[in-house]
Amino acid sequence: MTRRPASVTVRVPAKVNVQLAVGGPRTDGFHDLANVFLAVGLYDEVTVTPAEELRITVAGPDAGQVPADASNLAARAAVALAARHGLEPRVHIHIVKDIPVAGGMAGGSADAAGALVACDALWGTGASREELLAICAELGSDVPFSLVGGAALGRGRGELLEPLETGGTFHWVFAVADGGLSTPEVYRECDRLRGDAAVPEPEASPALLEALRTGDAVALAASLANDLQPAALSLRPSLAATLAAGAEAGALAALVSGSGPTTAFLAKDAESAHAVAVALAASGTCRTVRVTTGPAQGATLV
Ligand code: C5P
Repeated sequence: MTRRPASVTVRVPAKVNVQLAVGGPRTDGFHDLANVFLAVGLYDEVTVTPAEELRITVAGPDAGQVPADASNLAARAAVALAARHGLEPRVHIHIVKDIPVAGGMAGGSADAAGALVACDALWGTGASREELLAICAELGSDVPFSLVGGAALGRGRGELLEPLETGGTFHWVFAVADGGLSTPEVYRECDRLRGDAAVPEPEASPALLEALRTGDAVALAASLANDLQPAALSLRPSLAATLAAGAEAGALAALVSGSGPTTAFLAKDAESAHAVAVALAASGTCRTVRVTTGPAQGATLV
């Protein structure tokens, strides 16, 4: 008999969307995207241990904002894997949260990808990469990217991934806002603001892909784009002051991360990132400031 581990821990990164091109609403309620993901070095850690029944606990400063029940995407990941393999999801999932909650950095998706990889190792289910990616796609549009990490272009609703080459390390500062924003609400606001205007097919920008490939931060800054930004700003007008504070402090570019309300600042180098972070913290326009780099590795056994 194969010996099973007593517990398994997986580390999973946050993401920023360096381009988020959003098409018109589809009949299934989703939007077609050209979604250029970059994983960044803020991580949640997901530990799974055998238990009598499915149980979930969360630690970290914002743990209180995370549902610690079966509705948590990490619990749903364990249930989905168990169901496919004829198992009962008898597991305790413990999440140590460092990714901002409901912040547009795919924290919930990261926990789902982490729980999936961890349960697969704990139970010895030996799921193939394809099977894991298929389960991820069922769980949410951003979950497959949390599994693979690095940089990737997401088509469809963001789940159809094509890995992208990156030629260097990019320095980022993230300003975490008070409270979260609901992703469906931000998409709805995006549709509302667009009204009857024709929406072009979402396409990845060749200049942006080239900037990623060559590791050119100045060129990347010039092509960062987020179609959800007007909607996030409409729902949370105070984010404009945060974006302005980071830009004034010398960031190469400032944008809302995904559906927000976290804002992201690309810096020239580590020193400039530090200066932007200090200025943002002093500006009083955000709750917390984080400095990190991307790309970062996807879900990894610790
Ligand atoms: O896939 P996920 O569960 O993360 O999506 C959350 C919500 O975000 C969806 O229910 C939908 O309202 C919106 N969404 C969208 N188009 C996408 C991805 C998400 O409209 N491509």
